[in-house]
Order: sequence, then C-alpha cells, then structure tokens
Amino acid sequence: MLIKYRKASDILGSEITSKTDFDNRRKFLKTAALAGVGMAASTLPMPAFAARTPLANVQKTQWNTASLPENDKINDYDDVTGYNNFYEFGTGKRDPYENAQDFEPTPWEISVEGACRKPGKISFEDLTKPHMLEERVYRFRCVEAWSMVIPWVGISLGDVLKRFEPTEDAKYVSFETLFDPERMPGQKRAVLNWPYKEGLRIDEAMHPLSILAVGVFGEVMPNQNGAPVRLMVPWKYGFKSIKSIVRIKFQKSMPATSWNESASREYGFYSNVNPLKSHPRWSQAKERRIGEIFKRETPMFNGYEEEVAHLYEGMDLTRWF
Ligand code: MTE
Repeated sequence: MLIKYRKASDILGSEITSKTDFDNRRKFLKTAALAGVGMAASTLPMPAFAARTPLANVQKTQWNTASLPENDKINDYDDVTGYNNFYEFGTGKRDPYENAQDFEPTPWEISVEGACRKPGKISFEDLTKPHMLEERVYRFRCVEAWSMVIPWVGISLGDVLKRFEPTEDAKYVSFETLFDPERMPGQKRAVLNWPYKEGLRIDEAMHPLSILAVGVFGEVMPNQNGAPVRLMVPWKYGFKSIKSIVRIKFQKSMPATSWNESASREYGFYSNVNPLKSHPRWSQAKERRIGEIFKRETPMFNGYEEEVAHLYEGMDLTRWF
C-alpha cells in the first residue's frame, strides 16, 4: 500500500518542469494536425472544447480584476483549461482535457453532513442562483512550483456552510470528490486512495476568500477544471482546491486528506503557500508563472498574507506545513 501511494507523489513531483515539454508536444501535434500528416479526423489529438456556456449575472466585486497588482495578468483560457491536474481523468497535464469531455456533471448534489443542526443536500441549481455569483480573480499556486492567475466564478463557501448551522463540534470541514470509476476512468488505477479527499479548519473554510467555484472566465466550469463545483482557497497550494465535490462534512477531528495519506512528509494538512518551507524534493521559494520565461519570487500565503496571516498567529508554520 505504502509503495503504491509513494508512486502517486512521484508523479506529482516529476511534473515540475514538464510545461516546456508539454508545450513542445502540443505545438508539434497542432502543426501535424494542420499539415494534415495523414491523421484521420477521429484520431486528431486536439479535441474541440466542449460547448462553452456563459453564466448569467456574475457580479464584479472587490476580488475581480481590479484587485490584482500591476504585474499579475490573467492567464490564457487555453492554459487554464488545457493544463490541469485532475487524476480522476489521468495523471498527465493534458489528460483531463482529453478524457473529461464526455463527463456529465449534472444533475449534481452535494451532501452536507456531520456536526451541524440542519444536515441536507445542496443542488447545483442552489449554488448558481444568479444574484450570488461573483467573479474572483485569484492567483493560483500549484505545489509543483508553477502558477497562474484565474478568473473564477463562485460563491462564498462560508455562506453556504452557515445554511447547515454547524455546531460547536465543527472544528474542521472535510470534502470528497465523486467516486465513480465508470465516469472518472482514472479511478480505475490506484494512484491515490480514492475518493480524493481534502479538509480545512472551520475558520479557514469560513474565511471570505474561500469559495465554491462553479465557473471560470464567466462561463460554466469546464469538466477538466472540476465541474460542476470545486473548492478554491487561494492562499494554499492548488491540491487543497478539490474538484467535483459530492460530500462536505463538519467534524471535530482533523480530516484525512488524499495527498497527506499518499506522502505525509511531503504534503501536510495546512499546505499554506510558504516560500520558506521547502518541499523535501524542491524549493518553494520561486515559481514559474505559466506563459512567462523568468521565475518569480513566491510571496507568503501566495500574496494573501494581509488577509489570512491572523489565522495562524502563534503557529510554527514549519511544523504545521
Ligand atoms: N481534485 C481532485 N478531485 N483530483 C485531483 O487530482 N488535483 C489538485 C486540485 N484538485 C486534483 C483536485 C491539484 S494537484 C491541482 S494543482 C488543482 O486541482 C488543479 O486545478 P486546475 O486544473 O483548475 O488548475
């Protein structure tokens, strides 16, 4: 079992520098396709994006484009939706794009349970009531030391959680992705201990920066980005932002998380972006913004220090990584 899990972390780590190879392969395939080098249409390697559906009445709030520093530009749509980690559809960066197109994300319900007075279910329609949707342009920092800037559409996670009236025992919140190997073929391989699991402390979950995202670029969430609903916690490494959520549970004890189960020395529960705490196999001090040549310095808490540092006052963040 342990060896199996180690392997999963190796996959994640080995892909740190793969963006150049990835782009070269993509360019080659595109050119080959354009040149018509004898490939039948059905075998063309670049499937068309699934139909793109705009979301109505998305509000622009303080977290939209205007909140970004000068040098933070929104990444291209093709990078955001074509270079992904979503192991339920394969471990390569292009796999989610290529393998998730037929996934049918609706109807969808999230079950909310555990230490709360009103356990129940929440449907995708409940989450997309137009007056609630907000655009949030967030920096996104992957643990593999690459980053992007992404215009998510979502709603406050805290507002959703409060509807279920968490009790005093609700110290943590856990999240689970759908487990359905027929619909998510990557789950047929034991690269992780399925279903994908994540967790937050209750105050992190209630923080105004934490959202449930249902779209990107003003449109319904593409399957490869975690349709129909995923978490987005911008001051933590990207793997905390679990995709295609079907269960949320309030609990007293710290939840198990997939990457921590896979390699606890490498992936802690908190996983706050911290340039001072190296991953055992690489430094986290710098990052490559997808689309740029030179590396950038990684800011503490991914640039959200002012908003979130108080959550960790008095904690040794080298120990609680
Ligand atoms: N959620 C699930 N269910 N499965 C995954 O493999 N990958 C995580 C996170 N959420 C993952 C997941 C990782 S490692 C990253 S970096 C982000 O999703 C990627 O999000 P993006 O594809 O929208 O960029």
